Amino acid sequence: MLIAHITDSHIEIPEIDEAGRLNDFERVIDHIKQQEIRPDLLVHTGDISHCDHAREYAFAKSAMDKAGLPVAVIPGNKDSRELLAQAFSTPLPFAQKSLEMGGWTLLFLDTLHTGSNLGDYCDERINWLEGQLSQARNPVAIFMHHPSFIMSNNPYPFQFIDQAPADRFNNLVCGFDNVKGIFCGHAHRNTIGAVGHIAGMTLTAMSLDRRKGTYDDKFDGKPIYQLIELNDDGGFQTTLQAAG
Ligand SMILES: [Fe+2]
Repeated sequence: MLIAHITDSHIEIPEIDEAGRLNDFERVIDHIKQQEIRPDLLVHTGDISHCDHAREYAFAKSAMDKAGLPVAVIPGNKDSRELLAQAFSTPLPFAQKSLEMGGWTLLFLDTLHTGSNLGDYCDERINWLEGQLSQARNPVAIFMHHPSFIMSNNPYPFQFIDQAPADRFNNLVCGFDNVKGIFCGHAHRNTIGAVGHIAGMTLTAMSLDRRKGTYDDKFDGKPIYQLIELNDDGGFQTTLQAAG
């Protein structure tokens, strides 16, 4: 199974698009459409909007629909659960859902903490996740905005509101051998980490002006997204894509 993973578009409307973020978004979708092997799913891991206006979500929904793929989204710290629900029909009070695809269980988690940019994971969300993991018989891939793991190549390596919710989350997922990967946004740079036996990674922002870190020359001036190939044996590979 192949997943196109995009993140941190930070769409701003009606500000003049000086930063070119709408254009970056459209370039990425165009590039996904041109992939020789058609992805099975398009995932946005949050910070869809920058200013939290309904029109920003409407733009993102329209652009993502043009890929002609099933779509899954989760909120980032810049997003509103309510506006996300209006545009993408995500659940409330927490935008969490599970999908069975290609022999994998895909879990989309809501790590918002109201009132801060950092991640959180409360008892209600933990209980939902525990129920999902207890039922999962397939390999599991988790998508969430905030990484719960330490990012050693980030000047701000820990991005949860407190150690306690991160530990609670990490301890839970570590108890399930079939959890294989945690795919995040938020950091605006590519990082790798781990939660026990589980690989963790963050993908850089798709909007060029929000990108941090250093990249090969081939990515100069080109928005980045990634393809995640989930294999039948529970392994996976990721490949960065230069859109444009
Ligand atoms: Fe962001």
